[in-house]
Amino acid sequence: MNIAVDPMIKIEKVKNSRINDVDFDNLGFGKVLSDHMLVCDYKYGKWQQPQIVPLQNISLDPSAKIFHYGQSVFEGMKAYKDNNGQILLFRPLDNQKRLNISAKRLAIPEVPEAYFMEGLKILLKLDSDWIPTADGSSLYIRPFIFASGEGFHASPSDAYKFIISCSPSGSYFSGKIKVLIEEKYSRSANGGVGFAKAGGNYAGQFYPTQLAVEKGYQQVIWTDDNTHEYIEEAGAMNIFIRIGDTLITGPISDRILDGITRKSVIAIAEDEGIKVEVRKIKVKEVIEASQNETLKEMFGAGTAAVISPISAFGYRDKDYDLPKIEDNYGARIKKRITDIQYNRAEDKFGWQYLVE
Ligand code: PLP
Ligand code: COI
Repeated sequence: MNIAVDPMIKIEKVKNSRINDVDFDNLGFGKVLSDHMLVCDYKYGKWQQPQIVPLQNISLDPSAKIFHYGQSVFEGMKAYKDNNGQILLFRPLDNQKRLNISAKRLAIPEVPEAYFMEGLKILLKLDSDWIPTADGSSLYIRPFIFASGEGFHASPSDAYKFIISCSPSGSYFSGKIKVLIEEKYSRSANGGVGFAKAGGNYAGQFYPTQLAVEKGYQQVIWTDDNTHEYIEEAGAMNIFIRIGDTLITGPISDRILDGITRKSVIAIAEDEGIKVEVRKIKVKEVIEASQNETLKEMFGAGTAAVISPISAFGYRDKDYDLPKIEDNYGARIKKRITDIQYNRAEDKFGWQYLVE
């Protein structure tokens, strides 16, 4: 949605920053939030002027619809600082657009582009000292919208809050990950909300993921809900599989999030001369490739996870190890993407967005 709105943003600064209490050497992921947040209310049928305020708790009536009917969507982005102290975003308009695609599916009013982009830029400049510079770290940005309207009637809310909050963060995963290919539970179904970044999609994954964690895996790889024969995506990442010298990833559908990292991986791989196939992948094909030793790599791709190599996968009570290989596509592509994100290399794709 790109209607003409006045992005006049009122700013209330913190009196005392908390930044000196933060241990930037041990950040973890999404644990500590920066000084300010952007807040924008939807009421009386329109989004009101956004404001930037000190980070604070939100007070809601117990009947607020978010608590009962889960009307909420979110985004995940990162801000980086280059060697000259410039603030950079990576393809932020894709996140802005996807937030509204998700919102529409959840019957949430779309947020004007100017509120999102102008608000985010002001917020980042205000909290720019919170952008960590250590390798692999960044300021994780979490834009989200939820139903704040009151009443137990199961119908769309008449009030919403759009908030952007930021967290200086390190890696999402530590080291390689072991995943379990799931056959019983489903993440999404045709006609459902799997393509949206809806809060409930993640809640529904927690229980099956807990079961996988108890068995020694970190993540579940979802298969299609109909046959459970095809690989779909992981809890917070799209999945790439290298068989021989071909990189394969499943097609986007109603059930799969259209990942921005996924699109970037495909473009970079093609630019590197790597053969990419976007097509359905049978679990059987991956098992066979593992058995005949043509399965070379599996990795997840996502904003939080960046490119996360998979060391092994489990399927029907058996584990399959991925080999250690020399010319690793995942590592090569990760370097190209992160070099663009941190402004260490030329960006021939036009993905960098300088916050001025
Ligand atoms: N799939 C799911 C379910 C996710 O939550 C994410 C994370 O955002 C992704 C894929 C990767 O998307 P992106 O690369 O846009 O972060
Ligand atoms: C992201 O990669 O930004 C995500 O939203 C994943 C999240 C569930 C941690």
